[in-house]
Amino acid sequence: MSFWFLLNAALLIWAIWNVTAGLSIHTEYIHILLGFTGFLFFIFNWTRNAVFSTIRNVESRDTKVKLAGMSKKIRPYHRWTGRAALFIILLHGIFIINLYSFDLTNMKILTGFLASVNLLILVLSGWYRLLIDSSLKIRKLHIRLGISMFIFVGLHFIF
Ligand code: HEM
Ligand code: HEM
Repeated sequence: MSFWFLLNAALLIWAIWNVTAGLSIHTEYIHILLGFTGFLFFIFNWTRNAVFSTIRNVESRDTKVKLAGMSKKIRPYHRWTGRAALFIILLHGIFIINLYSFDLTNMKILTGFLASVNLLILVLSGWYRLLIDSSLKIRKLHIRLGISMFIFVGLHFIF
């Protein structure tokens, strides 16, 4: 099993923790639920990385075949969940800016903004990979943008 499964599970638990803490102290909650929903779409797509690296490393042929079958079923939805993540996160950003204004000296807003720019490039790299160039270079780029997105989201949760 790839260690990415554990990292993704840890980030998900952290998100749930922050969201429940946020909901318990705010009277406004739509902006928080939008952030959480966008996050869920992102982590769903990013788990593809954990599945793929498990397929590459696991010994058992049965497990490889099972995971490959699962990943094939999910494949047609990947581009939709990726786009949905971007769309919902943009709504999250708009709601936040209406509430707090676009104050980049606020670390929560700065890290969220950087994560959203990362997400935009990640989604664009996905389309580039699908429509124009599926070489190893672009594949690595798509995965590295996923890793940096993971880090930015972690930073967003710290503040
Ligand atoms: C323009 C971009 C973004 C801005 C300005 C922003 C800003 C914020 C702010 C200020 C909060 C705190 C809300 C409160 O306590 O009232 C928040 C919460 C949240 N954001 Fe973002 N964010 C952005 C992008 C993102 C991204 C890319 C993700 C994840 C994919 C995300 C996920 C969340 C989640 C799950 C919460 C609720 C949990 C928590 O407070 O840590 N946001 N965001
Ligand atoms: C939240 C955004 C996204 C994340 C986290 C993400 C992540 C991933 C991961 C981890 C893989 C498997 C990597 C590998 O080849 O080992 C992958 C594959 C791929 N992604 Fe994305 N992706 C996102 C959005 C998109 C979008 C919007 C498209 C648009 C078409 C796209 C197109 C592709 C394609 C064509 C593949 C290779 C075929 C496949 O295995 O499905 N991705 N992506």
